[in-house]
Amino acid sequence: MLKTHSCGELNKKHVGAEVTLAGWVDRRRDHGGLIFIDIRDRDGIVQVVFNPETSPQCHQVANEMRSEYVVRVSGEVASRPAGTENSKLATGEIEVIARKAEILNPSKTPPFYINEDNEVDESLRLRYRYLDLRRPRMRENLLLRHQTVKYIRNFLDAKGFMEVETPILIKSTPEGARDYLVPSRLYPGKFYALPQSPQQLKQLLMVAGVEKYYQIARCFRDEDTRADRQPEFTQLDLEMSFVEEEDILVLFEELFTSMVEAVKPDSELIKPFPRLTYAEAVERYGTDKPDLRYSLEIRDLTDIAAQCDFSVFRSAADRGDKVKGLYAPGCAEYSRSQLDGLNKLVRSLGAGGLVTISLSASAGSLGELTADKVKSVAAKYLTLDEVEEMARRLGADVGDLLLIVAGKPDLVNTVLGELRQEIGRRLELADSHCFAFAFVHDFPLLYRNEKEGRWEPMHHPFTAPRDEDAALLDTAPEKVRGKHYDIICNGYEIGGGSIRIHTAELQKKIFRLLGYGDQEIEERFGHLLEAFDYGAPPHGGIALGIDRVVMLLAGEETIREVIAFPKTQEAADLTFKAPAPVTEEQLTELHLRLREEK
Ligand code: AMO
Repeated sequence: MLKTHSCGELNKKHVGAEVTLAGWVDRRRDHGGLIFIDIRDRDGIVQVVFNPETSPQCHQVANEMRSEYVVRVSGEVASRPAGTENSKLATGEIEVIARKAEILNPSKTPPFYINEDNEVDESLRLRYRYLDLRRPRMRENLLLRHQTVKYIRNFLDAKGFMEVETPILIKSTPEGARDYLVPSRLYPGKFYALPQSPQQLKQLLMVAGVEKYYQIARCFRDEDTRADRQPEFTQLDLEMSFVEEEDILVLFEELFTSMVEAVKPDSELIKPFPRLTYAEAVERYGTDKPDLRYSLEIRDLTDIAAQCDFSVFRSAADRGDKVKGLYAPGCAEYSRSQLDGLNKLVRSLGAGGLVTISLSASAGSLGELTADKVKSVAAKYLTLDEVEEMARRLGADVGDLLLIVAGKPDLVNTVLGELRQEIGRRLELADSHCFAFAFVHDFPLLYRNEKEGRWEPMHHPFTAPRDEDAALLDTAPEKVRGKHYDIICNGYEIGGGSIRIHTAELQKKIFRLLGYGDQEIEERFGHLLEAFDYGAPPHGGIALGIDRVVMLLAGEETIREVIAFPKTQEAADLTFKAPAPVTEEQLTELHLRLREEK
């Protein structure tokens, strides 16, 4: 090794030791005599002192050193003089008195500061990702990711799971996104698809008798990139034979509980993990992935609305629509522009509008409300009793702001779900040290794609219907619930899975219901159906978005912050500048010709 110690490991115990360090120049301060250089390596930063009187040659070298130069220094560890200790630095009690120094490689001036955690344009960071990753925050994120994955591997190993690698060049696996295709050189006109997930492969592994499989698997989906979505991402993919839903949920609750305690010991968990049915989640929180760090709930006011004289509410109730609401705690005094902001949000989501009712704190209590304490466009059409009843239903009190939306049930839920999030954000209701995991289950098996006039799987086509609902497949497919479960955390879906269909007969029936013809079924899924005819065990599993989990653990806003080399929002790799053109020869070999884009 070119070094005896890492920079970050040095402390009081090393005082008097001769050490050799190697790393990057983090900061250089020339005090017109002594030169101080902070040297950084993976483990941290240490201060090195160059004295022109005791080591003139060494001081000469330090004179040449600049930010991000790669350097090597030997010297003695000494206590810092009293009063110059730096409590912010792990090595802040000591310094190294340099006796020998060399520059291993100079560096150009980096395009952004590496030693400061300031805002840098993301495209610049991604263009020079290898420099960005030198920054402490990114290094910590990489380390956290490593520890998280290592924890998962050890945990599953101890539970008897076997990691099996599955191929990247396969045939399309439908997970609801577009496939990335790879043209074949040997088979003109034919293509491999990159797996959207190893779904069918892990099911084949169950037929193969593996029983307990997992894999840290790379998945590829050509879909619009977002803060929590990348074209290629990583899953913990898992499958087990002879299990029921409960077995998977219990396993994952144990995994998450112990993992968070191991990698983020200062955080809080809500235990046991709440379980919500899909219908309940949408009714109460307006989404199937609510942030449960705060309790604010959406409540139904339709029965009160049906009796009142406010025409917006009343006519909605008469039409069979819903009137629902929630409240913003302590926001009775919201200004016009704050209310306009909420109204705009609601309209941008497609609702006709938002009815706000503010209940002045000066009323004292809900029972003492008087007309002058209630502010709303609806106030003159509502009796004080009606206002009080709505407030009580929503769990609100004086000083709060009621937010009410009328319209089609799905729209009302979605809009209020977004409003709930907005209020949570504005009022900072979520504790950033808390991880509110929960399971959502009992999803509908299918949903109707009205535009294309067909059924689509809510999850994927391999999910089994609930036994008691299976008979409805022929008569009322929309009523069939699937054995599908999601795991959510702090407003994100971090994983999803299901108990699978394991007979060819039922699987074919589902494919037909989804609109596949028999020939297409054979071409696309013949391999799986054939395998099911050779003694497929009952099985089920789940996949976890590793990027999302690490993003949450790291307290980051996007998964790009926890991926070493992510793509941009526009799916480009700025370091390699991919995608990129290829040569005419490469195209010819692949039997491809590019068409002029009009
Ligand atoms: P699903 O499609 O729900 O299920 O994916 C599982 C989890 O993977 C993460 N995820 C993503 N993360 C980053 N970028 C993306 N583009 C992206 N897409 C999905 C999410 C999601 O919850 N085969 C099934 C699993 C199974 O049934 O076992 C599947 O892939 O966190």
